[in-house]
Amino acid sequence: MSDARNIVLIGFMGAGKTSVGQALANVLHRPFFDTDVIVAETAGATIDTIFETLGEDAFRVLESEAISTIAAIRGAVIATGGGALNNAANAAALTRDSLVIYLTASPQVLHDRINRSAGRPLAGLMTGVDDLESMLAEREPRYRAIANLIVDTTDKTPDEVKHEVFHAIGY
Ligand code: S3P
Repeated sequence: MSDARNIVLIGFMGAGKTSVGQALANVLHRPFFDTDVIVAETAGATIDTIFETLGEDAFRVLESEAISTIAAIRGAVIATGGGALNNAANAAALTRDSLVIYLTASPQVLHDRINRSAGRPLAGLMTGVDDLESMLAEREPRYRAIANLIVDTTDKTPDEVKHEVFHAIGY
């Protein structure tokens, strides 16, 4: 892919947006931005601490600011947080002149991945797969609505997913 459109990775927590995004950026020699990293740098605190001390609403404000700043850049690869599309202005900014890739996985696989890693404050709300399924069902239409490409990562290794994405974008 040689045009200057941003490549935007969207999807639920545990979908692999950051790792696939970073790999894409390396291969395509493009700058990589992760909205959570920008939020944490801006606040000078981890995502967990922001949720704990400032609350989710304050996190969402910082997230929207980060998205509107990065979306103005051209030719970048952008990994978004799983809740970024809950805000219509974020969705509009991220779809402007972009290729949007939605990474999916089964609820069970997302649940397993989320429970294997730390630093996700909303993971505590999803003790069972049922809880995750409810949140995913609510968010999924927003992911699908803006996706140009959908890649199912269930039962695939990170390398397999990366190859599938590279192939799909014609690399
Ligand atoms: C969130 C997902 C997280 C992070 C924050 C909230 C969400 O990002 O933005 O914890 O609402 O789904 P990842 O999707 O990268 O885990």
